Amino acid sequence: MAKLLVIYHSQTGNTEAMAKAVNEGALSAGATVTLKKAAEATSDDLLSCDVVAFGSPIYFGYMAGALKDFFDRVFYTVRGKVDGKPYTSFSSGGAGGKQALDSIDRVCNSFRLKKAFEGVIAVGKPSSEALEKMQGTGKKLAQL
Ligand SMILES: Cc1cc2nc3c(=O)[nH]c(=O)nc-3n(C[C@H](O)[C@H](O)[C@H](O)COP(=O)(O)O)c2cc1C
Repeated sequence: MAKLLVIYHSQTGNTEAMAKAVNEGALSAGATVTLKKAAEATSDDLLSCDVVAFGSPIYFGYMAGALKDFFDRVFYTVRGKVDGKPYTSFSSGGAGGKQALDSIDRVCNSFRLKKAFEGVIAVGKPSSEALEKMQGTGKKLAQL
């Protein structure tokens, strides 16, 4: 049974709704899921999962500082211990979604995580289609 970790930051609930939809999809596909706010996530969370999804609002065309802070905090501890672990990402906002996901990819590349598939960008409050897509993301991650 795949152990999925979803790490996200959210202030006004859009990214959190996406994270919860990933959780639902993964649970329906039989995975165990840990859903963590980036500020509360630890290196143990990343070390102990099989697969991980990172979610962030777009902040100034970049990932949110809270998610970047997670990466900064755990880097030395997990370096060399998560090589090849699959990940994907998701973001919400308006303009700059691609840059925000690219910023996550650049960091994940330094961690030597392996991108499983392209991330999802939702514009504003996630539509029901966007949330369905996120459930699909959860199912796909559960089957890796
Ligand atoms: C500090 C800050 C910076 C932001 N920068 C951008 C931005 O560069 N591009 C954009 O489209 N939205 C930007 N936004 C809007 C958020 O990305 C958007 O409202 C997002 O859906 C909020 O996600 P949340 O509900 O999970 O907090 C910014 C919001 C904040 C608070």
